[in-house]
Amino acid sequence: MRVVTIVGARPQFIKAAPLSAELRRRHEEYLVHTGQHYDDNMSDVFFRELNIPPPDRHLGVGSGSHAAQTAAMLEGIEKVLLEVKPDAVIIYGDTNSTVAGALAAAKLHIPVAHVEAGLRSFDRRMPEEINRVVADHLSAWLFVPSQVSVRQLAAEGITEGVHDVGDIMADSVRLFAPLARERSDVLKRLGVEPGGYFVATVHRAANTDDAERLAGILEGLSNAPRPVVLPLHPRTRAAIRRHGLEQYLPSPDCGRGAGGEGFRDADKNLLIIEPLGYLDILQLQQNAAAILTDSGGIQKEAYYLGIPCITLRDETEWIETVEAGWNRLVGADAERIAAAAKESSAVIDRPHPVLYGDGHAAERIAAILADLCGSWPPNLTCDVQ
Ligand code: UD1
Repeated sequence: MRVVTIVGARPQFIKAAPLSAELRRRHEEYLVHTGQHYDDNMSDVFFRELNIPPPDRHLGVGSGSHAAQTAAMLEGIEKVLLEVKPDAVIIYGDTNSTVAGALAAAKLHIPVAHVEAGLRSFDRRMPEEINRVVADHLSAWLFVPSQVSVRQLAAEGITEGVHDVGDIMADSVRLFAPLARERSDVLKRLGVEPGGYFVATVHRAANTDDAERLAGILEGLSNAPRPVVLPLHPRTRAAIRRHGLEQYLPSPDCGRGAGGEGFRDADKNLLIIEPLGYLDILQLQQNAAAILTDSGGIQKEAYYLGIPCITLRDETEWIETVEAGWNRLVGADAERIAAAAKESSAVIDRPHPVLYGDGHAAERIAAILADLCGSWPPNLTCDVQ
């Protein structure tokens, strides 16, 4: 079976690493990078560290409005699909690269396999929610991380082709967390001690486009009871400047972290650094006192690593982590953020049930796709009227 895999944004490289390896054992894979993320520390570092084969095609799409970015991807992906003629197209998650891959393939009647299907935040103001809904409804096979997603898809009339394989990011953590322990010296470089700091990430449009929310988050992080390491997403760095919040950025003459990386401002608790590679961010997470984030993937990583998570949003797609008591939703309110950080250590005595499978999703997906080869061509008719 020949598959085309579409990736483009940082979390997709992390998800593709375990599945690409499995796919290449059983199938022929052609890897397309849309170019949505293009900085070395947002893209190439992941290919190097996680041993992902270099893309067979790089579309070089880059930044733009949602329409411009998605349109450029659609055009590029369609050309590749017409040339390569795959039996299936694999897409991951909820980014503009995901929805472009789904649309281009579905219109050419090529079956789409969506990895991390069935997630919902029930907030259509999020571009990611629009991308997931469209991608799910165009997919022939939906690989979901849990029964919650199976039920959600059923509620939307999708029951065919749904496979609960567990979460592919559990595979990534299982494979790479030990490697991170071995290879990453990030704690030393930043001058932080195990358990003595928090790690935070912020990049969602809802938090970066709204000056008040972004200020609330930065203020809350600055008032946390321990230093907060904040690897800053380029979108967030630009938003801080745009909204006139530079007081949270380190002044050029303030002290640097022990290894010369990042900045420490005497009167602020924030250690702002450039985005990190996967091994460094995993190592930083597995040694943190707690993690504060608006990322979907990091909420799960925190859970797999047994670290309390504080989510800087009002809702989450990973509701099971909240129900288990390991994840707390605090929105963008400075006081709630600082208070949750203070209380976070209370969580670690709680039971820690297995939520999203056993970290072997990649093998299952590759095997299911191999079985499906026998029933070629797949049924592309639809139950949903
Ligand atoms: C995208 C995804 C989001 C995912 C996130 C992970 C969508 C709608 N959103 O958000 O689901 O969680 O990736 O990071 O697809 N930029 C750079 N260098 C880069 C990449 C981006 O400077 O390498 C800047 C650009 O100015 C760009 C901005 O960051 O305009 C935002 O990038 P974009 O691709 O629109 O989405 P993300 O915020 O990264």
